[in-house]
Amino acid sequence: MPVMRSILLQLSKNRAATRAARRYGLRMGAERFVAGETLEAALKKVRELNGLGLMATLDHLGEFVSGAEEASAAAEEIVQALETIQATDVDANVSVKLTQLGLDLSYELCKDNMRSIVAKAKQLGNFIRIDMEDYARNEPAIAMFKELRAEFGRHVGIVLQAYLYKTESDMDRLHSFAPNYRLVKGAYQEPPDIAFPFKADVDRNFVHIIEKQLQSAHYAAIATHDEQIIEHVKAYTANLDIPVTQFEFQMLYGIRSQLQQQLAGEGYAVRVYVPYGTDWYGYFMRRLAERPENLNFVLKSMFKR
Ligand code: FDA
Repeated sequence: MPVMRSILLQLSKNRAATRAARRYGLRMGAERFVAGETLEAALKKVRELNGLGLMATLDHLGEFVSGAEEASAAAEEIVQALETIQATDVDANVSVKLTQLGLDLSYELCKDNMRSIVAKAKQLGNFIRIDMEDYARNEPAIAMFKELRAEFGRHVGIVLQAYLYKTESDMDRLHSFAPNYRLVKGAYQEPPDIAFPFKADVDRNFVHIIEKQLQSAHYAAIATHDEQIIEHVKAYTANLDIPVTQFEFQMLYGIRSQLQQQLAGEGYAVRVYVPYGTDWYGYFMRRLAERPENLNFVLKSMFKR
């Protein structure tokens, strides 16, 4: 793994920096990737995206909470976000991280929080996507998805990461749940005994699992900014007559905005991942790690102040 990527991913887990970032507000150019510090600010951006023909998934930033109260408060905020989405009639669903909802404290606590969130989503006809975090949380996240899917049906989905060797076999064992997946390359730092160390292998497996999901006839959210892979999906689905209603493209707020609009203009469903909140530090560091050239605008934004 290139050194800079590795350093940035290490930094993304730094708790002191996370706390400092929370206190000082959006800095270092983070506003390029984060829609704002409040739900209202994020909804304003979602309305703009909707106006361009793009759907959204809202992410109230936060991960690795340290107490049960903090985890329950995060769950309440997400329930409120679902209610506000309904009240303001924007086209958005919600993505969540299980460590924000107490997974590291106790699986049962996290499940209680998730049950209240997914129950609300079901009541409102909305949808919750479980983001996938690092490898240590992968199996608990899959177990949680299975339980929630069995209880609440199509109102919950999960993310699978192409860089993990196990992902294809996970798809086989989850097939009977008719899962709605978001498929991604994978954003965390994982050792070579569990994840492909070379990008070319990740890309190859990404295409493979995308095709597998499209062939299964279950819904696929294909989350990437990789134009080659997007073009491949367009050709593949056209050749096999896979309807455009069976998949959507997803991209991150602030990345490849023109491409997002172009795909929507071509008639594809496109959803933008819109993060908001004060806990932006870890998310921002992972975006820098994906493309260390992004450090250029961090430097520029520092000199602007
Ligand atoms: P790749 O990294 O090959 O990039 C292709 C091109 O996209 C680059 O050449 C560049 O032009 C552009 N690009 C990519 N990243 C950029 C960046 N940060 N800044 C500027 N340009 C960039 N991961 C995970 O582990 N768990 C999860 O739950 C999610 N969830 C998620 C949701 C959505 C909607 C997206 C789009 C992505 C995720 N990810 C994720 C992140 C994912 O795993 C991956 O790290 C990033 O999407 C970058 O990979 P690409 O597929 O874009 O390809």
